[in-house]
Amino acid sequence: MAKRPRIAVVGSANIDLTTFTDQFPKPGETIFGQKFDLGFGGKGANQAVAARLCGADVFMVARVGSDLFGPAMIENFKKLGIDASQVKQVPGLSSGVAPIFVDPHGQNRILVVKGANDAVKPADVDAAANMLKTTDCIVLQFEIPLETVYYTVAFARKHGIRCILNPAPGQPVEMRALAELDYLVPNESEAESITGIRVRSVEDAKKSAEKLLAGGIRRVIITLGANGSLLAGRDLKEHLPAFPVKAVDSTGAGDAFIGSFAVFLAEGLPEREAVRRANLYAGLSTTGVGTQKSFYDRERFDAEWAAQSKTNSVSVST
Ligand code: RIB
Repeated sequence: MAKRPRIAVVGSANIDLTTFTDQFPKPGETIFGQKFDLGFGGKGANQAVAARLCGADVFMVARVGSDLFGPAMIENFKKLGIDASQVKQVPGLSSGVAPIFVDPHGQNRILVVKGANDAVKPADVDAAANMLKTTDCIVLQFEIPLETVYYTVAFARKHGIRCILNPAPGQPVEMRALAELDYLVPNESEAESITGIRVRSVEDAKKSAEKLLAGGIRRVIITLGANGSLLAGRDLKEHLPAFPVKAVDSTGAGDAFIGSFAVFLAEGLPEREAVRRANLYAGLSTTGVGTQKSFYDRERFDAEWAAQSKTNSVSVST
């Protein structure tokens, strides 16, 4: 049997407070929402959970608050079999939280209050170095300080560990710190935050990817929601379509894509195949409410893949 992939996530953990609503209040107005859901979230934690459910051994480096959410988040990692020995509570800080609003089309609006996520420092990466060096891939996002992200990218490069960065939430980036990054995986708006190019079509995504690749990044994957994703490198640009699903809540779909992609790649699949599978894994996550709780385990995913993969073989490359 192939070796189990070992994936590390250096990133955020939040509590998601999701309200389903068909309208939004105006200033000074109070209205009723339809439904509420409380769940474990945070881009880093979601990606760790997706990787774990896809069958990897997962190691998480994170900080949570000294409130009632902190121990619950640590317990959630442990319950799922994720190594949480480097997830610690920070005295005096609140846990990261994310009030989320989902409209009847399943589209979300998210507000993140980072709290203890801001306390993940380069020294915490050093403290986790021995474990990080044993992994096949380190996964990062932008919900912890950028200083720590850049430090970890350099750490991965120094030790020859594959590194995947999801620049979310979108913000301006020090491109020099990302030179030679293995994979940058933004969505349309995150790509726009970095390049200034609006992404409304696959052609726009190609222009955006060109600009990112010019900065030295090896591969760029722009996730395009219901349009699938664009895989781009200096030698290729390939649009890989999404699988048709009935979406009820798209929150965490990008995280599902990244966590699963890290595993498929570490299992040795060609990257094009890994992207196609991640497209399906992300799509399936939108058919349930919430983030982590909507992610498929490997058995359910493999059954869907066997049923759907033959119907989605079209791709366009240049
Ligand atoms: O990507 C979805 C995640 O973004 C949510 O779980 C929320 O916590 C925010 O981090």
